[in-house]
Amino acid sequence: MATMESLIGLVNRIQRACTVLGDHGGEGMSLWEALPSVAVVGGQSSGKSSVLESVVGRDFLPRGSGIVTRRPLVLQLHKTDRGQSEYAEFLHAPKRKFADFASVRKEISDETDRITGKSKQISNIPIHLSIYSPNVVNLTLIDLPGLTKVAVEGQPETIVEDIENMVRSYVEKPNCIILAISPANQDIATSDAIKLAREVDPSGDRTFGVLTKLDLMDKGTNALEVLEGRSYRLQHPWVGIVNRSQADINKNVDMISARRKEIEYFETSPEYGHLASKMGSEYLAKLLSQHLETVIRQRIPSIIALINKTIDELNAELDRIGRPIAVDSGAQLYTILELCRAFDRVFKEHLD
Ligand code: GDP
Ligand code: NA
Ligand code: MG
Repeated sequence: MATMESLIGLVNRIQRACTVLGDHGGEGMSLWEALPSVAVVGGQSSGKSSVLESVVGRDFLPRGSGIVTRRPLVLQLHKTDRGQSEYAEFLHAPKRKFADFASVRKEISDETDRITGKSKQISNIPIHLSIYSPNVVNLTLIDLPGLTKVAVEGQPETIVEDIENMVRSYVEKPNCIILAISPANQDIATSDAIKLAREVDPSGDRTFGVLTKLDLMDKGTNALEVLEGRSYRLQHPWVGIVNRSQADINKNVDMISARRKEIEYFETSPEYGHLASKMGSEYLAKLLSQHLETVIRQRIPSIIALINKTIDELNAELDRIGRPIAVDSGAQLYTILELCRAFDRVFKEHLD
């Protein structure tokens, strides 16, 4: 019997295959939409990219003040065997293996500029990145531009709405798990993330509330009202986070020391000590992975139905264009068909 790890691994492969081929779902819900993913939502500089990096456990995202993330980044994490070396791959540069994460960061920013120019413009066209590492959990994560309230110099007036619509197009999908990021040094009642999450997921079923910047709160105040679910109740518990500050980033504080500092922060905190085992980036990563597995289990029957429909459609298309012999679109269809069959087999094993 296949493990749940390999099941999520297959979900990742199918998602990628669907991306390469364009969608084959036809009418109604596409295969891509049937598979769960996690999107990071929040105001500008709330700490979205930082949280994503902590979940992954690697430094690779452009971060900083202002509008840094200007295209959606679809990030697939693939857990590999212990001892394997880590690398990253972009869909737009499939032949190139990135072993150095500083070059991944540079490629994200170059590829952003290629579409948007060096302006403060945004684009709906996603960047697809895969990371293969023994140190990650299998997850698909989506980093999104920050929600804003006003356009800045050089941006069109419509940017506030444009960003909101882009973010909404991801989080309104019923299979999207929402990581709603709010900074602890702002009033939770003004949180853009919670406002949007509440709108698209009123039951709070698929929303994880994440409170960043706990270290930046005014002295004498704390976030217990939020973290203990009294300010805004969600189905899942709130997770408090302490990411690296801009000064830490400038000093090149690495991920391992950052995580150690974060754990220490909670363990020694007079306010949050009692919550320490349920706080921090590592705990959030575990929580997400577990939730994803639960969701996939629940969806197995409907995904099988969708896969079978896709197999039928692909077969019909292959009959129409003739079975492939060379590397052409037919060969690609054939590959996805094979993937779908493998997927179907694993799912059926899980139903037994
Ligand atoms: P994004 O715009 O939402 O993606 O936010 P970033 O992850 O780029 O972070 C914006 C800025 O806030 C960066 O300078 C980070 O170093 C800083 N930052 C993010 N989270 C925290 C945190 O928990 N504590 C502190 N002190 N700074 C943080
Ligand atoms: Na930012
Ligand atoms: Mg960002």
